[in-house]
Order: sequence, then structure tokens, then C-alpha cells
Amino acid sequence: MADYEDIRRRLGESGQDHLLRWWSELDEAQQAHLLSQLAHVDLELIRRLWTQAAEAGTKAQVQWERLEPAPVRRLAQSFEEWEQEQEEAEIGEAALRAGQLAVLLVAGGQGTRLGHPGPKGTFPIGPISQRTLFQIHAEKVLALSRRYEVPIPLCIMTSPENDGPTRDFFQVHNGFGLDPAQIHFFVQGTMPAVDAATGKLLLADKHCLALSPNGHGGVVEALVQSGLADYLEGRGIRQVFYFQVDNPLVKVADPLFLGQHLQAGAEMSLKVLPKASPEERLGVVVRQGGILRVIEYSDLPPELASKRRPEGELELWAGSIAIHVFDLSFLKRLAEASSLPYHFARKVVPFVDEAGNLVRPEQANAIKFERFVFDALPLARKALIVETDRRQEFEPLKNAEGENSPATVRQALSDLYAEWLRSAGVHVPRRPDGSSLHAIEVSPLFALDAEELRAKVEDLEEVSGPLLLQ
Ligand code: UD1
Repeated sequence: MADYEDIRRRLGESGQDHLLRWWSELDEAQQAHLLSQLAHVDLELIRRLWTQAAEAGTKAQVQWERLEPAPVRRLAQSFEEWEQEQEEAEIGEAALRAGQLAVLLVAGGQGTRLGHPGPKGTFPIGPISQRTLFQIHAEKVLALSRRYEVPIPLCIMTSPENDGPTRDFFQVHNGFGLDPAQIHFFVQGTMPAVDAATGKLLLADKHCLALSPNGHGGVVEALVQSGLADYLEGRGIRQVFYFQVDNPLVKVADPLFLGQHLQAGAEMSLKVLPKASPEERLGVVVRQGGILRVIEYSDLPPELASKRRPEGELELWAGSIAIHVFDLSFLKRLAEASSLPYHFARKVVPFVDEAGNLVRPEQANAIKFERFVFDALPLARKALIVETDRRQEFEPLKNAEGENSPATVRQALSDLYAEWLRSAGVHVPRRPDGSSLHAIEVSPLFALDAEELRAKVEDLEEVSGPLLLQ
């Protein structure tokens, strides 16, 4: 325990020596555990962040002047635009076939809001098969790898809390058919929570700091520090397709999006769609003084979120659905400079008090620090923002009931597959609101898109009940 004295001195200098209060009570393993946690904490950074948070409250320091809608490449309306998209999709397909793209899934969150024990990706969501989110994503990567005859790497970011269960889940299911060499797990970093009033780090136990995942922005440094970024680069990977575990409609590795990113010479690209309402919990993409950025929904003042143009459309309409393409070299550059800022959130964090008792506060007592990956946007030398169609690409699983819940996600999946079938000439009954009457599910291994499905359902005329194609 060579560094004990050094750590004790550093803690003393920064007013954090309470963390060693129980030292003499700890056994050797507990002492080693606490020391190793403390060795990883940047006390100076924490002090600076807490000071900022205390000065700012928890609201992001945003200047609200000169905020304008970001320039967005809208959905194709004309034949010329459609033709251009065909060319761009071909460029994306060529890059895929050349093995230049890796898929990056951020899955560090837990299913807490859903009331689901374990990693969110293990939630069963297939409208009929109860396929889990992880299975759907993995099968898409497998189907794409077959289509482009190249093993597309699937990189999965976990958090310390769910890393073991996530790896086990993939192992039990034999990686859903992927070659084990294709799947790369890496763990995101953590940040300590501090007492909101004093800035003192909290202990979750006498030998443990209260740590939590450092936000999905932690992906940048975790990817590099795990060695995965270099490994991918060494295998010829140039771009990374980034998405969140909660959206099973995502067009993984979308060749059109990739082609558009490449054509534009962008370092980062984003997909957006018109927000359904001012209250919809989507970050909005804006431009301010020529700089593009995403403002998180919780930071945007309601009067700005609800401002409308004369035609009725929301002024700041472009909701980010957290689907990006990044140049790998851009991510490496960001990691090197540790450039992403931290956001603050006031949260309830149980802690060990001065008497050694575990306290569970009823109100927010602590500040947590998180990084958001979309803060990379203003740092990109060139960025591209493209609109996509909600019905084809976005219905995330966030809540146990109501909006963005298992019921709405399953319906959105059925509706999407119903559309694919209709475009193949199959009669699929609708409800009066247009949604699919029957549950319909298409495995990504059966068909990845409407075009692929068409060739496989030539004998099907009508859907007369729940339909599972796999
Ligand atoms: C998020 C975005 C929001 C976007 C919306 C689209 C943030 C802060 N906001 O909202 O701008 O419009 O999705 O659905 O992200 N995750 C980690 N590690 C972490 C934290 C999160 O891997 O430390 C992963 C989660 O597993 C999940 C994703 O990031 O896949 C999103 O996190 P979540 O907290 O659910 O974000 P939202 O508030 O839903």
C-alpha cells in the first residue's frame, strides 16, 4: 500500500480526508479497494466542477441569444434528391463492404425507469417473439455482415454495474450468432458524487466511494483508453456508427447515412426528426453564432421549446434521436484533449454519515457529473445533420407505461413491418388510426428492410393474424 501516504496527503489538501475516517476498521481487501478507487479520482477536477455547479445551480450555462434552427438536410422531396440519395447509399455500401465501419452501442444504463432488473438491453421487446433489444441489435449486425461479406465489429459500452450481466447475457445466447471475435465489450468510466452543499465526496460504504457512470460521453475516453480505438483503426475501421440501446427501430449502419457523412466530409453526423411536441424529451440541434450544438431537453427553457413559426412548426424543431456517425480519428482527437464538458444533476445518493450509518435522503442531496456525447458536435470541424422519418426509425423504450413504453415500442415495430409488407403488395389490416391491427414481427435475419422482405413474401397475399417471419 505504497500510495496510502500520498493519497492521505492529497485528500487532506483538498478537504476530503473524511474519506479515510473508517480506515482502521477496514480489512486489507477493503483498504486496497478504497485506495484503488481514490487513486482514480481527479480531486482538482471534482473541486472545479463542484464550484461551477454551486455557482450555476444545475442549469447548463447557456446563453439564449441568437439561437436559431440548425441547417438540416430534409427528407428527399424530388426525384433529383431521391437520385442523389441512391448515389450516397452506394458510397456508404462501398465503405461497408470495404470493412471501414464499426458499430458502437452505448448500453451503460440500467432498466430502472422500466422497472426491469438488469441491463436495459435484456428487455424482451419483439412484438411476438419477445426478442430482447440486444438480440435485435446483434441480429442486425449479423445480417449486415452477411450482406456486405465482412465481419462488422459490434462494440458495446457497458458500465461497471452492468458489465458482468451484459457479457453473461451475450455468452448464454452465443452472441446471437455473431463471431465472438466480432463483439467487443468495454466499460465506461465513473465519476464520484459529491455532497451538493459542501462538495465533499460521498461514501456509499465505509470502503467504497459513491460512484456512478460518467454519462454516455464517457464513450470517447473509454473507447480510447480500453485500446479498442487503436485496435479498430489497425483493422482499417474509419467510421463508427453510434446508437443507444433503447431504440429497436434504428437502422444500424444505415448505408445512406454513412454515405451522406462521407460525401459531406463530416467528422460527426446526426439524425434528427421534428419533435412531436415542445415537451418531447429530445435534445434539440441548434446553431448559435455559427456554431452547431445540441441542447438537452431539460436545459431548454419551455418558452423557447414551444416557440412556433407563423406556419405552426416549432422554431427549434430538430430533435436528436442519438444516432450518429463519427470519424474514428475525431473521437481519438476528442479523447486526447479530454474535451467534452461535464453536466451537473442533483440526485438522491445514499451515503455513510459521520456516525457510520447509511443515510437514504428523501430529497436530492448530491451532485452527479456526466458527459454527453452530443457535446462533440461544436468540436467537429465539419458536421452534417440529416432528417429521418420517425415511423421508420425511432421509438425508444424509456418508460414502463405511457409514452415510449413496451406497448408503444411493440406497436411501432408492428407498424413498421406492416408498411414493409404493404410495399410488397400484401394486404395488412389497419385500425382506424392507421396502426397495424395485428402484431407483426420480422427478424433482422429474415429481412433487414422492405426491399429484402419483398423478395421473400411473394406468396403472401394477406395478413389475417399475428405474423412472425424469422
Ligand atoms: C437521450 C438524450 C437525448 C435524446 C434521447 C433520444 C441524453 C442526456 N439525452 O435522452 O438528447 O434526444 O436520448 O432517445 O443522453 N448511457 C450510457 N451510460 C451512461 C448514461 C447513459 O451508456 O452513463 C446510455 C444508456 O444506456 C442509453 C443512452 O445512453 O442507451 C441514453 O441514456 P438515457 O439516460 O436513457 O437518455 P434520455 O434521457 O432518454
